Amino acid sequence: MTDRDLLNMAREAAQNAYVPYSHFPVGAALECADGSVFTGCNVENAALGSTICAERTAIVKAVSEGRRKFVRIAIYGEGESYCMPCGACRQVMVEFAPDGDMEVLCTRSGGRYVSYRLSQLMPHPFETFR
Ligand code: THU
Repeated sequence: MTDRDLLNMAREAAQNAYVPYSHFPVGAALECADGSVFTGCNVENAALGSTICAERTAIVKAVSEGRRKFVRIAIYGEGESYCMPCGACRQVMVEFAPDGDMEVLCTRSGGRYVSYRLSQLMPHPFETFR
């Protein structure tokens, strides 16, 4: 699967975004070590802090279906700047990709994307209980 394939799946997933407050749809496509892919979108709530980001939706779907090893995640969001994962999502990614090697692909308007290793985005995570 190419980066573009995964990014296209993330874009498709954004179509299901529930975003009555921000009007900012986000989609994610998570590639697991066994090759399976789980998608997710952001799901907002009137209590804004209860909003769930697209990345965490995809991760929770994967874990609840028995996958715990992730190799790459594509994030789709339209905007002037690249759609980067929030701090909470980075921490949740680290939980299941603790070596920091997971690739994180982030898009912006026009289809451009940048690729990072999780360790670049989350260099000193909380992992005291490991
Ligand atoms: N959001 C995501 O789903 N993922 C990101 O990487 C950044 C932010 C969502 C949360 C909220 O529904 C909306 O984008 C605006 O913050």
